[in-house]
Amino acid sequence: MKKILSFVDSSKQNYLDELKTFLAIPSVSSQKDCDNDTRRCAEWVRDQMLIIGLSKSQIFETKGHPIVFGELITDSKKPTILFYGHYDVQPVDPLNLWTTPPFEADVRNGNLYARGSVDDKGQVFAHFKAIEAILKHEKELPVNIKMLIEGEEEVGSANLENFVKENKKMLKADLVLISDSAMYAKGIPSICYGLRGLAYMEIEVVGPNRDLHSGSFGGAVHNPIQALSEIISSLHDENGKVTIPGFYNDVQKITSKERKAFSKLPFSDKKYMKDLGIAKLYGEKGFSTNERTWVRPTLECNGIWGGYTEEGAKTVLPSKATAKISMRLVPNQTSKKMEKLFSNHIKKIAPKSIQVSVKALHGGEAVVTPLKSPGVKAAVSALQKAFGKSPLFQREGGSIPIVVQFKHLLGLDTVLLGFGLPDENAHSPDEHINLDNFFGGIRTAIYFYYDLPQFLKKG
Ligand code: BES
Ligand code: MN
Ligand code: MN
Repeated sequence: MKKILSFVDSSKQNYLDELKTFLAIPSVSSQKDCDNDTRRCAEWVRDQMLIIGLSKSQIFETKGHPIVFGELITDSKKPTILFYGHYDVQPVDPLNLWTTPPFEADVRNGNLYARGSVDDKGQVFAHFKAIEAILKHEKELPVNIKMLIEGEEEVGSANLENFVKENKKMLKADLVLISDSAMYAKGIPSICYGLRGLAYMEIEVVGPNRDLHSGSFGGAVHNPIQALSEIISSLHDENGKVTIPGFYNDVQKITSKERKAFSKLPFSDKKYMKDLGIAKLYGEKGFSTNERTWVRPTLECNGIWGGYTEEGAKTVLPSKATAKISMRLVPNQTSKKMEKLFSNHIKKIAPKSIQVSVKALHGGEAVVTPLKSPGVKAAVSALQKAFGKSPLFQREGGSIPIVVQFKHLLGLDTVLLGFGLPDENAHSPDEHINLDNFFGGIRTAIYFYYDLPQFLKKG
């Protein structure tokens, strides 16, 4: 173990150089003009799996972006980890807000800046290097490892579900391990046991059959941007509650035990507001900030456009306006049902002066993972050793759609062992990963592989 860890310590610069080549590939899954790069990224992952010492690694085609699967099975008696991660990344716009280009990774102030650095290439790469470091010093890994790295997580993992269904045998394992979330705070490692689900929608409002002169027609025609704004602003009431009838019907009440546990976590609304540059918090009345983002369903407008948005002025009353809206869901809600509820409500409240159409883009279900599993115990032990501190338990507001399917289709529980930080700008300009946590992540992975067999034996 000592040899392995000191090897990791002396390889830091090499790791950063290699990670930079992974981060240089613009694998933006939602953008067609990145399709070739996204494939190139899958090939990079396939090759990397062989470089680190897995015995098999293969690209699987899907209707969308390829899936990469690799494995190293040493001994059928050893426990098997199914590691899941994603090589795709979010779009980079607004590009002008990046301090350095998103696909030219840059190290400054102890952080590595690039799109995908924390979500999720950097965290996946930490496991690659953990495996490689062990195999450079030992004949075999203490566990069997299967690695499933997909290219469509950021667009809802639509094709992965089928892949899992069709490859149950190949994916057979004792547990799923994912590093695609954040620690609670710097210096406070955590294990995440809950993720929200998602229903992602698009609304299009069409008014007149062409763009109009806003002077000649303004006053006589309902402006689609205005109509859309009216619809969106009606979706919350003065208590921050979503007004769609039935929105909260399937929501389970937060237990007093969990409420108490959340309230004991170190958290300051003041610090939170200061960090985000906001003067006041907004949200559902009667719930704390962590409750609002972890265990309550919410609705957000993610983007809105229409009319003239280029330089200077153009007085126009536009023909249409569009918005993207995400609903974050909690256990017991289903994305299908919420999509329906949303569509029906929007159509019902839309004024006669415009035409509205609603599309469901993608979705996924919320999940809560058990805290008493051997995998979680091994994760606690590993984090303790790697960061010198016991982790706390938290939930998260983000989504990883396939986690629920791992349970349903493979019967597997997932351990969410994340090394990011909440303020590392995932999905935003200047995304970065803290280097201490990145290297701590490699150490944690190594400890986890070594500790897991004991905990599985103890049951
Ligand atoms: N890694 C995130 C999910 C996440 C974020 C987990 C924060 C824990 C903490 C993942 O890559 C992600 O962004 N998922 C999308 C899923 C969606 C596009 C289906 C999300 O949450 O928006
Ligand atoms: Mn991610
Ligand atoms: Mn993401």
